Amino acid sequence: MTVTITPPMSDARAREIADGFDLRALPPDFYANPYPVYARLRETAPVRRMPDGSYFLTRYADLVAVYRDAHTFSSDKKVEFTPKYGAGSPLLEHHTTSLVFNDPPLHTRVRKLIMGALTRRAIAEMEPGLVALVDRLLDAIEAKGGGDLVEDFASAIPVEIIGNLLGVPHADRGPLRDWSLAILGALEPKLTPEQEERGNRSVGEFTAYLKTLVADRRRHPGDPEHDVLTRLIQGEEAGEQLSESELVQNCVFILNAGHETTTNLIGNALCALQEWPEALQQLLRTTDEASLTLAVDEFLRFESSNQLGNRRALVACEVGGVQLPAGALVTLCIGAANRDPAQFADPDKLDLRREPNRHLAFGFGIHQCAGLSLARLEGRIAVGRFLARFPGYRLTESPTRGGRARFRGFLHAPFALR
Ligand code: HEM
Repeated sequence: MTVTITPPMSDARAREIADGFDLRALPPDFYANPYPVYARLRETAPVRRMPDGSYFLTRYADLVAVYRDAHTFSSDKKVEFTPKYGAGSPLLEHHTTSLVFNDPPLHTRVRKLIMGALTRRAIAEMEPGLVALVDRLLDAIEAKGGGDLVEDFASAIPVEIIGNLLGVPHADRGPLRDWSLAILGALEPKLTPEQEERGNRSVGEFTAYLKTLVADRRRHPGDPEHDVLTRLIQGEEAGEQLSESELVQNCVFILNAGHETTTNLIGNALCALQEWPEALQQLLRTTDEASLTLAVDEFLRFESSNQLGNRRALVACEVGGVQLPAGALVTLCIGAANRDPAQFADPDKLDLRREPNRHLAFGFGIHQCAGLSLARLEGRIAVGRFLARFPGYRLTESPTRGGRARFRGFLHAPFALR
């Protein structure tokens, strides 16, 4: 059986999609391989005005300029999300209370509390548990002679790591992945009524669950050096405590942020290596920590699990030579910026020794991913130990994509051990 991971796209087709580009009306072949479309946009309309009046940015330098200027480009989504989700809806409350969709001062208070629990030492201490978890998953795969890269491996890692970070009991972790997929899925540019209903229901169920967890943790606090939830409950100094809604909604966000993104990093990496056999052979020869660290950053650049970011211009301004009015909504296309030839030599090549590799997969500036060291650690251990155990793995069918513009990854990728 022929296995196709990234189907090619003709120049004519890329031109057709790019010339009528509308994030709310993307065809299926775009999801399968958006890069030729991104390249065409970058070359012909790097600050592209879309039919709804918002702007789509594809050049690396323009993304960095927007990320850098948090005074002009706000992350606060209340104006944008109120008509999208409706006043009083659970999705609106969630997505407008999490730190990532807020500006200082709420953003600064929450970020400081989270970063205090994600120190270099705290992350290093997670490594032995992570290795043991990955090895247990590999044992189970070996016992059944193969499986699904996403279901049996990539998605089973972040749920445990992030669950540990907030001290969610093992028995309660079952619904976390579905809640997370539904809540982040509601960020897609266009929503069906079913997606919206699932998103609202998931926020309701997730927050109800977290309220009981918070009440329990208030009675039995954990070690604030390691337990993010205890840290968020206690606040660092008097006056820094979060309200109940801020606390619960930010816990939902942390659990979601570290979930699908990291699943996709691991799944995308193991699928990309099947498309690039020379890179696979090279990595199999050098599985030391430094080589794997470089490789993980290249996977993040090459198939960024979070492809899109958003900002709103608070005042009239200029980006990449284009004048934007006050209130303009801006989509930052990380997936396009990470393939920009002005920043990366031979950008469509998976080059596992690429250095320097200043990709934007974790964003940039004041909102840069708070979990990037943890994500890199998970990627390195998962990919490294998988390859060491199953160097001859191969996909047995074409993997199934998630079909999302924002979060790029696979839902299923069946494979055999050799
Ligand atoms: C491969 C995995 C990951 C990717 C690609 C990723 C990507 C990103 C990106 C692009 C942003 C910036 C959003 C913006 O500026 O609008 C972000 C923010 C964030 N991420 Fe991650 N992330 C990953 C894993 C994690 C993990 C494991 C955690 C868990 C602790 C996490 C927690 C956060 C938090 C708390 C923020 C908000 C930071 C802020 O607003 O200051 N992420 N992430």
